[in-house]
Amino acid sequence: MRAEDLNVYSQIGNVGEILDESQKKRGLLIYAFQQIQKEFNYLPEEELKALSRKLDIPLSDVYSTASFYKHFYFKPRGKNVVCVCMGTACHVRGASKILEKLKEKFGIEEGETTKDMSLTLETVGCVGCCGLAPVVTVNEDVSGEMTPAKLDVIIDGLGGK
Ligand code: FES
Repeated sequence: MRAEDLNVYSQIGNVGEILDESQKKRGLLIYAFQQIQKEFNYLPEEELKALSRKLDIPLSDVYSTASFYKHFYFKPRGKNVVCVCMGTACHVRGASKILEKLKEKFGIEEGETTKDMSLTLETVGCVGCCGLAPVVTVNEDVSGEMTPAKLDVIIDGLGGK
């Protein structure tokens, strides 16, 4: 959904009665970011500018709010997002080797996307299933107890070089 098409005020409900106009607008930003990111897979600059105009909130405030949350992205992301958990349990059980293998295979660094937009490589602090360390997520799927053989299967499924 584009920023221009958002009916953000319909999301307030009864809570709107106890908030002033500025609080209402700011409270709607997260919902708006979620809708825009659902549409574009990231937050395009033009959409954030449109949102800034629509809600009459300075663009710098729109950006600072979005950048507070790690799950909003400012750059286009690939069709597949592979995320290596680098939390303590995964680190101890070889997450760095997994990350290196993925970097080498796809020719990108952590936080980058392949030129053909097929894959974005990310890391995360902990995905909450430390008992399955080391853990890699591919889009919404979690793969635990990652081994080189399992990683090869995942890479083949994603079309690595
Ligand atoms: S440290 Fe990797 S899942 Fe918790």
